[in-house]
Amino acid sequence: MQIAIDPAVESGPVQLPRPLGFGRVFTRRMFTRRYEAGRGWLDAAIGPYRPLSIDAAAQTLHYGQAIFEGTKAYPRPDGRLQLFRPDANAARFNQSARRLAMPEVDPADFVSAIETLVALEREWVPRSEGASLYIRPVMIATEATLEVRASREFLHYVILSPADPYFASGFQPVSVRVEGSHVRAAPGGTGAAKTLGNYAASLAASEAARAAGYQQVLWLDAAEHRFVEEAGAMNVAFVYGGEEIVTPALTGSILPGVTRDSVLRLAPDLGFRIREARLALDDVLRDIREGRITEAFCMGTAAVIAPIGRIGRNGEDTIVGRGEAGPVARRIYDTLVAIQYGQADDPYGWTRIVDTTAIAERSVA
Ligand code: COI
Repeated sequence: MQIAIDPAVESGPVQLPRPLGFGRVFTRRMFTRRYEAGRGWLDAAIGPYRPLSIDAAAQTLHYGQAIFEGTKAYPRPDGRLQLFRPDANAARFNQSARRLAMPEVDPADFVSAIETLVALEREWVPRSEGASLYIRPVMIATEATLEVRASREFLHYVILSPADPYFASGFQPVSVRVEGSHVRAAPGGTGAAKTLGNYAASLAASEAARAAGYQQVLWLDAAEHRFVEEAGAMNVAFVYGGEEIVTPALTGSILPGVTRDSVLRLAPDLGFRIREARLALDDVLRDIREGRITEAFCMGTAAVIAPIGRIGRNGEDTIVGRGEAGPVARRIYDTLVAIQYGQADDPYGWTRIVDTTAIAERSVA
């Protein structure tokens, strides 16, 4: 893929605001590429970050044919930048695309768009503790039609946001509230795809949780309202006896998180057992009360690992462990973050150093 790079966009040193927050600051450039049925992907370009101009009838605005991803670029101790498993995001982007009747992208192009943009915007990678450059690839349906059918035109774009960790409190326990009526996703639905509607469908419950004094929603399955699925916009895990990490099995309505997958792969190397299972909420709450579950945590790209300190259901709270961040979550967090920031060896081959010298070869001016 050749990328046309607009040379007019300003480069050079950047003064980042403090605190950055999450997803509030955006860099000067963005990647765009459009798709036309019969012609494929066209016009890959990096130009100024700008408002999009799409038709008011664009299919995405009416029927929500749209997907996204989230990944990050990290500053290494040697000053270079690296990406973490962007190929996993490319694979999931295409899984989401298939579910939403959208065109797939060549995974190498998906990664090249990210890498070239990050290389151009390298001055925007924050160096403060826990901060990173959050990368948001998106695909939206742009054909102007009110017919309910798959669009024949699409826009794939990538924006970058220098960001603090998702929770301003850092590695502190979050509280979750069990959602008793709304569900996030149903069997056969779109829960395993990273599509906008899943997030829209979650908002009323998360606002209600917030109003009741909790930070996130703990989602149950749609069919029986019995089994734990996700926490907020993240996967969730419970630690039994300080040594076994149990996470809901991917039943089709749970997003297959890249962080979740990374935890499942590295935890055995740290001496923990792992298990994917259907987890009934009643059993989870009982096992917390009886001390068998010693910790719970959320897993996602934005927050990495967020310990859960308190679970509320029907106005009653269950405190996990002592309500504090536990040693297993801490160990997993420290290990994963050290790999992501290039502070530790990466025996898994997950990281990819951003080649800032090869921009010219990948691009046409
Ligand atoms: C993540 O954990 O990275 C997420 O998917 C949350 C994101 C939508 C902010």
